[in-house]
Amino acid sequence: MVASSLTIIGLGYVGLPLAQEACNSGLAVTGFDVSAAVVDQLNAGSSHVDDLADGDVGAMLAAGFEATTDASCIRTSDTVVICVPTPLSDDGTPDLGAVESAARTAAENLNSGTLVVLESTTYPGTTGEFVRPILEEGSGLVAGEDFHLAYSPERIDPGNKHFGLRNTPKVVGGLTEQCTDVATEFYGQLVDRVVPTVGLREAELAKLLENTYRHVNIALMNEMAVFCHELGIDLWASIEAAKTKPFGFQAFYPGPGVGGHCIPIDPNYLSWVVRSLGHRFRFVELAQEVSERMPVYVAKRVQDALNRQQKAVNGSLIVLVGVSYKADISDVRETPARPLATQLQRMGADLRYLDPHVLEFQLSDGPVVALTLEDARLEEADLVVVLQPHTVVLDSGVLENAAAILDTSGSLDGQNVERL
Ligand SMILES: NC(=O)c1ccc[n+]([C@@H]2O[C@H](COP(=O)([O-])OP(=O)(O)OC[C@H]3O[C@@H](n4cnc5c(N)ncnc54)[C@H](O)[C@@H]3O)[C@@H](O)[C@H]2O)c1
Repeated sequence: MVASSLTIIGLGYVGLPLAQEACNSGLAVTGFDVSAAVVDQLNAGSSHVDDLADGDVGAMLAAGFEATTDASCIRTSDTVVICVPTPLSDDGTPDLGAVESAARTAAENLNSGTLVVLESTTYPGTTGEFVRPILEEGSGLVAGEDFHLAYSPERIDPGNKHFGLRNTPKVVGGLTEQCTDVATEFYGQLVDRVVPTVGLREAELAKLLENTYRHVNIALMNEMAVFCHELGIDLWASIEAAKTKPFGFQAFYPGPGVGGHCIPIDPNYLSWVVRSLGHRFRFVELAQEVSERMPVYVAKRVQDALNRQQKAVNGSLIVLVGVSYKADISDVRETPARPLATQLQRMGADLRYLDPHVLEFQLSDGPVVALTLEDARLEEADLVVVLQPHTVVLDSGVLENAAAILDTSGSLDGQNVERL
């Protein structure tokens, strides 16, 4: 089977790039989203995610793409891919509400022979034990017999200029061997390499393994950054030296804390499953604890840096540079800049931020004053704290005017720069 028509459920950071690649590959693509605002914006040719420009959405529309809040498009689709959010509930447990609702929508409109794929990041067992019964009950069809069911984790790295959907291998696991084959054939149209797994849960775990590995290694660097500073050792230089080893070492870097929709959230999906067995996933819990402390540690380093100038945080003009959760993107979900900014503001800092990607930066206490590259006047700041090294800021040369910089990103050096 070669899929010719596709419905993507959920048109966010994951669903939209997938829709773009499918349009490029000649598929008839419809995007279903519960948000009328998202649908209207896309149909008007405007993008709401970093990796696609308005022109990209325009090209998709010209290729026949349509966004809709009407789920009947599923009835005429050969393939349905679910890309909805998987956040945490208030008590820190998985919130599969959007997955459940998306699966119900798919079930109500499912036809025999359709391939249904879940891409949302989730714990092992979700596709087979949570999504499958919803699809079967709602459609009266049987997975693996009447329709195909698979899981394929999204590996999108927003802002990555080298690796996109097409040149990042795509892991695919099906409920049955035939489901895996059908899903492999589908993704083979969109990406250079498909990697089939032996089953659904192995594909689900692969994604959590990748994120947990990153989470733990970033936390390791964060913990080392704290004591290396006290020992007077330049950890950044040690990482550069260690990474010359051609085997057995992969470089990770410390920073102001972890953010985004993946690293601070996804490993909790895995530790939740482990807890259901009566065990604790101690590596994840420790990584969480270490990285969550980083904004507080950065605030302490801000205090120390000002102290050396015989100044207090209270009343000092402090500029945070790059408040998104990573460089070159606008996403502020779970950004460590938020707890840091809240703390500095509550300590009485005259706080500003400079981030051309983030037009508004809200804290629970109110907005932070925004500077632009044109009016930054960083020479007037008592301290500039670089959180994310956005290329546009580094290239502008604006940081050269700053008298004192605390660089948590390891991208700057010079007389006026102190690194984390
Ligand atoms: N953002 C990333 O970098 C990234 C990377 C890899 C994996 N993921 C995973 O992919 C999944 C989607 O993440 P995202 O960042 O694209 O989310 P997002 O918030 O950017 O977009 C999700 C979209 O789904 C829509 N939606 C919510 N419930 C819906 C429903 N019941 N039916 C239809 N549409 C619905 C929302 O309106 C929104 O437009 C999550 O599980 C996430 O963990 C995200």
